[in-house]
Amino acid sequence: LDNGLARTPPMGWNDWNSFGCDVGESLIRQTADTMVSSGMAAAGYKYVNIDDCWSTRSRNADGDLVADPAKFPSGIKALADYVHSKGLKLGIYSSAGLTTCAGYPASLGNEQRDAALWASWGIDYLKYDNCGDHQGKNGQQRYTAMRDALAATGRPIVYSLCNWGEESVWTWGMSTGNLWRTTGDIQADWGSVTSILDQQVGLEAYSGPGGWNDPDMLEVGVGSMTATESRAHFSLWALLNAPLIAGNDIRSMSAETRTILTNTEVIAVNQDWGGKQGHKISDNGGLEVWRKPMSDDSVAVVLLNRGNSTATVSTTAAAIGLGSASSYSVRDLWAHTTGSSPGTISASVPAHGAQMYVVTGGGITEPTTSALKSLSSARC
Ligand code: DGJ
Repeated sequence: LDNGLARTPPMGWNDWNSFGCDVGESLIRQTADTMVSSGMAAAGYKYVNIDDCWSTRSRNADGDLVADPAKFPSGIKALADYVHSKGLKLGIYSSAGLTTCAGYPASLGNEQRDAALWASWGIDYLKYDNCGDHQGKNGQQRYTAMRDALAATGRPIVYSLCNWGEESVWTWGMSTGNLWRTTGDIQADWGSVTSILDQQVGLEAYSGPGGWNDPDMLEVGVGSMTATESRAHFSLWALLNAPLIAGNDIRSMSAETRTILTNTEVIAVNQDWGGKQGHKISDNGGLEVWRKPMSDDSVAVVLLNRGNSTATVSTTAAAIGLGSASSYSVRDLWAHTTGSSPGTISASVPAHGAQMYVVTGGGITEPTTSALKSLSSARC
């Protein structure tokens, strides 16, 4: 969406994956505090997002949404002020239907009223779900109505479309929102992560600065995800230019989880200004190679082992789209070491694991994003 926001994938946190409906003011305040003290804010995380279940069960006499006073005794405006005082931003949630998934009042037919209220509170991000009665309207109509209502407030508000990939949202996502969910809900297990990954193939053409495919929020350090699985999940979401919205309880995360979420070399791949989404280039019985062309003429690579035992995963500089060179520099983004190779990129990868590298040398053999852009502007 051309609203000046999300020129790189948004980064932040959301309560849903770990807390469900158990959201409240102290959780949000403590999470904002931890976002700063843990180093996550310094690594780029900015949005602290409230999900479903924040309001009372019905609108007030004026027709406005009301924050549940038991959950948010100080109100959302005071909470936004607090989050802003930490240098962070606050997100809220509603649905493009008559009710949210948990049955709370939602915004279909009240788009302007609700957007104006959120703007008056100082809200910076809206996640807009797909539950409740749709009143016979299709998704594109319902999501466009809120886009226009947010724009009418004059406040910069990142607009997250949560319609689960319906109506091929990626084909109209860029003109409607800053990110769009491409699938149903992620779960905190390896099977869910890989099934969502499979549903991203072919969507890379639709995303770019201002609008991103959203394979759903991170499950790093949540549920049954092991550290190895969490590293692979984070590597792949970074390469896919996914919004990096942490879903764990960051107040009590292990040092290992914090190290994964704050790996600034992996984050730099996600936030590369060129905004070209990574994609899969080979698939050999659960051993996969994914690559993302970077704006500095290097290529980021993820070597993924979906199998149940350690295996060697290999590719070459040519296969990932680099020109010929006598030697390539290979930066390991998890070990933080640099090696060199005459052309093979190969690693022993643990079960359910991934290695991630940035390979430099030879230049990218396809048009870069900036070259493509100047080509297309030359044509217009
Ligand atoms: C469905 C969404 O896809 C989830 O991410 C979450 O927002 C829940 N609804 C909340 O009810």
